[in-house]
Order: sequence, then C-alpha cells, then structure tokens
Amino acid sequence: MKHLLKLLDMSPAEMTEILDLADQLKYERKHGIEHPHLKGKALGMIFQKSSTRTRVSFETGMYQLGGHALFLSGRDLQIGRGEPVQDTARVLSRYLDGIMIRTFDQKEVEDLAKYGSIPVINGLTDFCHPCQVLADLMTIREKFGGFSGLKLCYIGDGNNMANSLIVGGLKMGMKVSAATPAAYRPDPSVLEFAAGYEGQFLLTEEPEAAAAGADIVVTDTWASMGQEDEKEERKKVFQGYQVNHQLLSAANPGVMVQHCLPAYRGQEITEEVFEEHAQEIFDEAENRLHAQKAVLVKLLKK
Ligand code: CP
Ligand code: NVA
Repeated sequence: MKHLLKLLDMSPAEMTEILDLADQLKYERKHGIEHPHLKGKALGMIFQKSSTRTRVSFETGMYQLGGHALFLSGRDLQIGRGEPVQDTARVLSRYLDGIMIRTFDQKEVEDLAKYGSIPVINGLTDFCHPCQVLADLMTIREKFGGFSGLKLCYIGDGNNMANSLIVGGLKMGMKVSAATPAAYRPDPSVLEFAAGYEGQFLLTEEPEAAAAGADIVVTDTWASMGQEDEKEERKKVFQGYQVNHQLLSAANPGVMVQHCLPAYRGQEITEEVFEEHAQEIFDEAENRLHAQKAVLVKLLKK
C-alpha cells in the first residue's frame, strides 16, 4: 500500500491491518504510552474545502506520532492560481514525507499520487471519503466485536460517504443496503463493484426497505460541500430520507447510528435520534484520529 486514494484500491487484509493498528494506537494513547513512529517526518495538508475534524485530527495525529503537519490552504497555494497539480506534486515531494489532500475532483488526488513520489492520502473528494469510513469501520468493530453477520444501511444522498461506505462495508464482509432518490444514486463505479457481491447488496429508493434488519444506520448531509446552490432543491427531494424514530423501528434492536458530521438536525437526522446516539457518533469522530494515525504510520514509516 503506497497511497490511500480510495477504498476500491485496498484489499480487505490491508484494511484490517489499518483497523488493528488503529486499535493499538488508541490503546497506547489512552494508557499514556508514547508512539513517536514518525519522528522528523512532515505531512503537507492541502485543503480546497472546509474542515474541522479532518484538519484537527491529522494535525494532532502527526504531532502525537512525533512528526509535523503543515496546513496548506488551497486559497494560499499557487495551485489556487492555476499552478498544475503535476508540478505541485513534484515540488512538494522534495520537501515533505506525505501529502493529505481534500479537494473536489478525485482525479486531482490520483494525479498528485501519479506525479509525486511520496504517499498521498485522500482527505475527501466529491467521489469518496476513505479516512472517514476507516474510522466508521473501527467504531463498528469496537461496538460489535467484528463484522460478520452485520447489516450496514445508508440513507440519503449517494455521495462520497455512500460510495466509501458501500465499498468498505462489503469488503469487510457486511451486508450493505442504501436508500437514495433515483437521481442521487451512488457512483456507477461503486455500483459496478457492489454488483460483484450478489445477495449482499441492496440499492433501493425506499428508506424502510433499506433499514429493515439493519445493525448500523448511517446518514450524511443532503447537500455536500460544493453543492450549496442546490440546498433548497435538495431539501425537497430528500424529505423522506430522514433518520428518525420511525425509520429506526425497522432496524434491529440496539441499532447503532453513525454520522460523519457536520450534521443538520431536522434534515437528514432528527434532533432526538442524534442526541440518543451522540455517544457513538462522537466515538466515530474520535476514531478519525486513531484510524488516520494508523494510515500515517503504515504509509510514512520506513
Ligand atoms: N467528517 C469530516 O470529514 O469532517 P470535517 O469536514 O470537519 O473534516
Ligand atoms: N458529504 C459531505 C461530507 C462532509 C464530511 C461533504 O462532502 O460535504
């Protein structure tokens, strides 16, 4: 494993290795055991979109690993004025030990990896959010002790989170269902991947059909970053795609609710459901730190 560009590139064994290491790093952190695996290493973090969790968890994670992180806003970099990603990649490769990038187009991330010579980590694109889903998988495994026999359900927009959850969930051996409006389905490449998991994957327009017998229900914002102009239109289309008590009554007792955050209460999730599941939602947010530290160690430690 040279980069983390998308979960489609990873084998189940590689994902399990990251999750195991993440558990270990979390344990060490809780017990005051230092782990300076990346002493003297520097990570550049390019942000073309806003972030709270990704930025803070990567920056803190590098610090805890004995390394250093640089916040590079797309607005300040020459990339924002049109310097090609091919050149940025080759320049940054001369200074840094790794790059994390959050941007719009998946191709930009792939190009950074192609033209640079250091590991590249995808911190969210319009296509996927692999770091988030590794943290989600870690949180699910913590609660249930494994993945076998579990059903993961996603409700809402067929966006970056839906794409990564479908791939990650199926690769880890869970059953996966997704309910999205017809015009907001997950990416065709993800659906093609899921078609290889016969009897394990369901795509429907009916939230209750997707939630039936689910052990984990996940949702995300109806309007992702970059879709601000579509907010009002999307509010109408997604009306029936809310995680609320009625929907959860179709799921298994003790159902877990996950949300990558930021959450919009009253839209994709009700205030009540959010607060009742706040513990596991903020465990999920915390696990971004541990899962990403595992990714950093795996990719940057020589
Ligand atoms: N979930 C997530 O990636 O959050 P941020 O946008 O705050 O980084
Ligand atoms: N789908 C959301 C996730 C935010 C972490 C977005 O892309 O804005």
